[in-house]
Amino acid sequence: MRLRARRLPKAIFDVIDGGASDEITLRANRSAFQSLWFRPRALADVSTRDLSTTVFGEPIAMPLMLAPCGFARMARSEAELAIARAAGRADTIFAVSGSASYPLEEIAAVATAPLWYQPPLSKDGRVSEALLERAATAGYRVLCVLIDTAVNPKRERDYRNHLSIPLEVSPRLLLTGLTNPMWTKDFLVGKVGHRGVAPGLGRARMAYWNFARTVQNMRPITFKDVAWIRDHWKGKLVLKGVTRSDECGQMVDAGVDGIVVSNHGGRNLDCIRPTIEILPEVVEAVAGRMEVFLDGGIRRGSDVVKALALGARACFIGRPYMFGLAAGGEAGVDRILEIFRNEIDHTMALTGCRTIADITADIVTT
Ligand SMILES: Cc1cc2nc3c(=O)[nH]c(=O)nc-3n(C[C@H](O)[C@H](O)[C@H](O)COP(=O)(O)O)c2cc1C
Repeated sequence: MRLRARRLPKAIFDVIDGGASDEITLRANRSAFQSLWFRPRALADVSTRDLSTTVFGEPIAMPLMLAPCGFARMARSEAELAIARAAGRADTIFAVSGSASYPLEEIAAVATAPLWYQPPLSKDGRVSEALLERAATAGYRVLCVLIDTAVNPKRERDYRNHLSIPLEVSPRLLLTGLTNPMWTKDFLVGKVGHRGVAPGLGRARMAYWNFARTVQNMRPITFKDVAWIRDHWKGKLVLKGVTRSDECGQMVDAGVDGIVVSNHGGRNLDCIRPTIEILPEVVEAVAGRMEVFLDGGIRRGSDVVKALALGARACFIGRPYMFGLAAGGEAGVDRILEIFRNEIDHTMALTGCRTIADITADIVTT
């Protein structure tokens, strides 16, 4: 916490850390995990544990994946390239944001594990079609469509810090950056000479403009768009931002393969229920017809085990790996994944679960 805070200007720390309005959902995402208790199985043979699982039939080393986080370059200039490499080493999935700081092909080129893509859907169908084609050609296997961002969110920390997203390289930001010279140098110059990463100021501007264009072109998604996407995407289709169970049947009918129970980490609409509370009713409504994932407030391996016990196939983290990236670059993301891996393993051992299939509803209670 101290490391990440020291390296980042306060305004940037707040962009990553903050939530919408009064941050009620942001806090509730955490506290809801804290009101779930384990009922460990005694006398189980847990001398060896196996954390591996599958997502849409694709094997991954553990049930934890990296959520799409836009403009990761504000944390560290290697951004999505570092995240993709670290995800590859941990043998897990990275969902690349449509507001990524690098072209989707560059990210795919360094990845050694499966990638998902969260496309920014344009008002112009031809632009979206071309983007989906690029993603398929680059090898992305799963499209993860964001359905919870009809308008720009109200993040009051950003207002107080006079910071606009997309991030503008303004004199005020640079002035703030003077107190964090390591961050400023990295943001403006990048790791010059680092293979595939030589952002420079021009590159930073480019990333900014790409991001700005994306945000300006964003529009609310409807079931009509989901049908259009289904027609234009041959791979698996996931909707991210599901917060109620009564819409799941229609999603199944629309040909959706998976959903992420997500309130955007409390960053969009405040006062939505915490995702871990929503999960059981969604799992019941889906009844095995789609794979169900969860994000929001996962900070410990034990949170992952709790979510799996309540029916999630796997979980995503957002802020933890963004702060890992900010604090330690690629090695920082490695470290976060290693900590989660160890904690999931530890929790499985102590709850009497040898494999992921052993993590069932009876091991948790309220
Ligand atoms: C800095 C930041 C940027 C994000 N950008 C995106 C984005 O571009 N697309 C998206 O689908 N979700 C985005 N999210 C939300 C994450 O995908 C995820 O839902 C959320 O971070 C999970 O909650 P957690 O941070 O508590 O783990 C972003 C989150 C953060 C922290």
